[in-house]
Amino acid sequence: MLIFAHILSQVTKLVEEKLSTRVSKLPLSVIRILSDSVGSSDVIKLQAGDPDFPTPEHVIKEAQKAAEEGFTHYTSNFGIKPLREAISQKLKEENGLDYNPEQICVTNGATGALSLTLLALLNEGDEILLPDPGWPNYEHMVSVAGAVSIRYSLKRENGFTPDIEEIESKITQKTKAIIVNTPSNPLGAVFSKKVLEGFAEIAKRRRIYLISDEVYEKIVYDGNEHVSLGTVDDVFERTITINSLSKSYAMTGWRVGYVAGPKKIIEAVASLNSTFNACPSSIAQRAAIAALTGPQDIVKQMVAQYLKRRNFFVASLNEIPVVSATMPQGAFYVFADFSKFEKSSEKTAKFLLEKARVMGVPGNAFGPSGEGFVRFSFASSLEELKEAAERITNALRAMSY
Ligand SMILES: Cc1ncc(COP(=O)(O)O)c(C=O)c1O
Repeated sequence: MLIFAHILSQVTKLVEEKLSTRVSKLPLSVIRILSDSVGSSDVIKLQAGDPDFPTPEHVIKEAQKAAEEGFTHYTSNFGIKPLREAISQKLKEENGLDYNPEQICVTNGATGALSLTLLALLNEGDEILLPDPGWPNYEHMVSVAGAVSIRYSLKRENGFTPDIEEIESKITQKTKAIIVNTPSNPLGAVFSKKVLEGFAEIAKRRRIYLISDEVYEKIVYDGNEHVSLGTVDDVFERTITINSLSKSYAMTGWRVGYVAGPKKIIEAVASLNSTFNACPSSIAQRAAIAALTGPQDIVKQMVAQYLKRRNFFVASLNEIPVVSATMPQGAFYVFADFSKFEKSSEKTAKFLLEKARVMGVPGNAFGPSGEGFVRFSFASSLEELKEAAERITNALRAMSY
């Protein structure tokens, strides 16, 4: 397996091609490289955060209808009004957030929402607090914006929840915002209202923004409830809510997400949307209305499947003496501790790929606190997960564990 050599060759290539410093400084996405590097071999791929379910049929039908009707042109760079109205309604009813359609901009997924929001907010040298471990793209986006990422830790011994005192100690005159992600990728942690109140209190006192990434909001287990940060403790005015249809409706390829927040920020995001993307796909926007306003039982059905898979896969990992995994409360990832087997998460991921033919993501790709861990996605069929668990168990047993 030459994946790690491949990563090195990509870095070398960037240097040789004399690209901008902005791009040369950009860390490579290990997840993307892993995903692209293994073709149709017998590897079980548990590295990507992409639901294996099809997009609901009524959503596809609406896209077909839109295309046939000729709804195939540029739209407003804020997104079409009926979609912004549907999002506004959804945020009110489901999340308790009172954003009017003028406070919403539709983007190319949450990736578009986050990157444009960060470009709208951050100046060179500004600081922003990010979760460690956290979704790697946050750091990449901050780097492109010329700003500085400061990590706050989410430790396993604290149930992967933040230490508010640590966060407070990391805030300086340069801090512009804190990114909060619940349910969390890669940890599966769901923050309680009390934890969110800690963030809210700091944001108000230190006059900084909270960027709340809620893309996994609908995927929660064991009676856990997703609380939207903007509803907590009068912090609404300082909160920028990010969401998308990717994970909830198995629509990762449609690229529809959105940002909701103070009007001035949304206008800046829409202006950047116009500069970099013109607008989100017209057809996908129509499909998004169908997803948000159509039957929602489909989401519950998917979550019921994830639950079965989670229970099976996490229990299987925990039966291996050198592996230990906290039961995720949300999202569809398990962040498993392999440090008793091997301290380096990259070596473990390489070992699992070569000897078990199972692909996970080395934990250090999510930040320094991920060292020793490997993230697996259970957005794969139960059959695949059974096979993966057996292969991992056998590979480790062969090392006499
Ligand atoms: C925490 C988190 N935020 C945002 C995204 C981006 O989602 P999308 O751009 O598909 O909406 C992802 C995707 O994996 C994610 O894990």
